[in-house]
Formats: sequence, structure tokens, C-alpha cells
Amino acid sequence: MTASPINPFRPTAGKRPPVLVGRDRVFQDFQDGLDYGPGAPGRLMRITGTRGTGKTVVLTELGAMARERGWTVLDETASPGLGERLLDRLVSPTRWSEASVKPSVLGVSLGEVKLRPERLPLTLREALGTKLDALEKKGCGILITIDEVQGGSRDELRALATAFQHLVREDRSVALVLAGLPNTVSDLLNDDVLTFLRRATPEALGKLGDFDVTWALGRSFTSSGMAVASDELAKMVQAAKGYPYMVQLVGYHVWQTTRRRLDGTGTVTGDDVEQGVSVAVDELARNVVEPVLSELSPTAVAFLLAMAHEPEEAPIGAVAARMGKTQNFANTYRTRLLDACVIEPAGRGRVAFQIPYLREYLTEHADRVALRAGLDIE
Ligand SMILES: Nc1ncnc2c1ncn2[C@@H]1O[C@H](COP(=O)(O)OP(=O)(O)OP(=O)(O)O)[C@@H](O)[C@H]1O
Ligand SMILES: [Mg+2]
Repeated sequence: MTASPINPFRPTAGKRPPVLVGRDRVFQDFQDGLDYGPGAPGRLMRITGTRGTGKTVVLTELGAMARERGWTVLDETASPGLGERLLDRLVSPTRWSEASVKPSVLGVSLGEVKLRPERLPLTLREALGTKLDALEKKGCGILITIDEVQGGSRDELRALATAFQHLVREDRSVALVLAGLPNTVSDLLNDDVLTFLRRATPEALGKLGDFDVTWALGRSFTSSGMAVASDELAKMVQAAKGYPYMVQLVGYHVWQTTRRRLDGTGTVTGDDVEQGVSVAVDELARNVVEPVLSELSPTAVAFLLAMAHEPEEAPIGAVAARMGKTQNFANTYRTRLLDACVIEPAGRGRVAFQIPYLREYLTEHADRVALRAGLDIE
């Protein structure tokens, strides 16, 4: 009996996709950073992108590249406790858990670090330095990846940045990659202690190209035993709109629909695509569109509802008029929504939706959206 085929797609946050689409430049920049040695631009990067564009996936990939070269990789998120978690990993956590009292790290016990955050940069620098002494002899180094910088404790990021900066100045073999939503990362760049991040190589993760998505989807289907004609493939690519999470959602649900219909492998039909895409769109609405809307103020939602009535590249003046407000008023919300990566500039005085299917969702569920936001329904 043959094992039943497994759906290759991974519509799950942070999960490696079956075929990684694009992002070659980021990987090349990082590779160059590792090759060129201490101080190379690719050893300090900031990765930005809206939700579901693949920031975590890129960090995992960079970690794998570094590990392949024998580097030690410390993957962390910026949530509070970052400094202590890094120290724990640098000074062998197994040793700690065996001991009833934590021994001192380089003269400072971890308990003391907690109480004296001002020592954190120095302690981190020393702990990293000690680890590097051994690694550099083998031609390796340490990569630190920090995900979700938007949820970060600013003090701890500062401590890490200070330690990192010193190590770079000493020509040590370290690399640091930060990832987060575009607006929070640009906030960080204005922080006095974190200004050196402005020199970090910026990698903005945008939409994936249709050509690459076609190839990746096609390959994932065929290598899991399903045949798919180019027309069906083209429809899936169109539905994914170059959005990495949607590529996985569409692939997953079309695959599931086909598999269920056939109870095995086979050929994807036009109906399978239609059904699969419709489930994918619903799931995207639940997991991305609705949470994004729920975080916005009623006026921001009113702005978006007005925008959905305009052409795809909506003139701000028309949006303001629809809201019954001045252009200045509308501009305040334009800025907020740009910062939140919900919309994007689309030429002079115009904006477009950045989140895929948000426009369609607002058009289809205008009343429900308005009610939820506490707005009067026209
Ligand atoms: N380059 C890519 N090619 C194909 N699929 C991808 C790619 N990058 C990410 N994905 C898929 O997109 C989804 C989202 O990826 P990921 O969780 O890395 O995004 P993110 O930017 O970290 O999102 P968030 O802001 O919510 O943390 C996952 O299902 C992942 O498998
Ligand atoms: Mg992520």
C-alpha cells in the first residue's frame, strides 16, 4: 500500500514553504557578508515587510546558511527578557539547570544582571567575546537574529546594539539581523542609541514575482503527485497576488480540494481552483484582514471604507470628500494607515490598499465592518 500523499503547502506563520520563492537578493547579500569578513555590510541587516511577507522564513533561512558554515546562531524575538535569554544561551543553559545556584558569568551572576540592567551591554559583550574566542579559531562566528522587533523591549535592544557595535569595532566575527514591521523598524532608527542601525543593509520584502510564484506552485503540485494545467496554475497565481502567505493558502486549499474529490492524487480542475481559492480568501480574511481592521480606530476604518469606493489608486481628495472631512484631516489618517502598512502610496496624492483582499472585503462586508467599528451605517 502506498502512503497517502501529503499536502506540501505550509500556510502557517514562520513555517518554511515547500519552495521558497524569490528573496535571492537578501540571501546573496548575507552570503557576501559572511564571505567578506568582519565589518561587511551584509553582517548587519534590517528586514522589513508587512504581515505574512516572509520575514521569519527569511531569518530561518539566514540562520541555516550561517549554521552550514559552522557558525553559532542565536535566534530570538525581541520580546522582554531578550538580554537574559541571549546570555542563557551563550553560557550553556544545561550547566545552569543542573546547578542549584546559578554560578557567576564573568563575575556577574544572571540574577544580578536582572537587577542591574545597566550592566547588560557589557555582560553581553563579554559573553559574546568569550564564545567568539573559540569560534573564530575555527574561522566561524556568531549570528544573532531578532524577530518581531515591534514587540521589543527598547532597553534590551539598545543593550544588544551597544554590545554588537563594540564587537564590530574590535573586528569580531559577528552578524546581526533584525526583522519587523516597516513602521516600527523606522521608529527604531530614530532612537539615539540605535542610530547605527541606519547603516544596516535594508531589505524590504515586497511582493513575489508572478513568474517565480508560477514555478514554485507548479513544482509543489507536480512533486506531490498532482498534475496541473497552465490555465489552472495561472488562476492560482492571480489569486495569490504575490503575497507569500496567500501563495501557501491558495496552494494548500486547492491541493486539499483536489485530493478530497479524488481521494488520492490526480489532476487539478478549474472547479478545484475556484473552491480552493474561495476557502483561501476566507482564511486570509480571518487571519489577516479582520485582525488588522480590529486594531484600527473607527475613523481609520471610515477612511478605508471610503477608499474602497474609489478606484484602486484612490485620490486622497476624493476619500476626504466621501468622509465629509477636510483633506488635512484625511491626511492624518493617511499617514497612520501608511505607518501601519495597511495602505501604500500610489503616485501623487493617491493611495492603494497594501493588504491583499482588504479592498474586496470592505466592499463585500461594508455594513458589518462599519458596525464593528461603531460607525453609523449610511
Ligand atoms: N519566499 C516565500 N515563498 C513562498 N512562501 C513563503 C515565502 N516566505 C514566506 N512564505 C509563507 O508565507 C507565510 C508567512 O511567512 P512568515 O511567517 O515568515 O511571514 P512574516 O513576515 O514573518 O509574518 P508576521 O509579520 O505575521 O510575523 C508562511 O506560510 C510561509 O510559509
Ligand atoms: Mg514573523
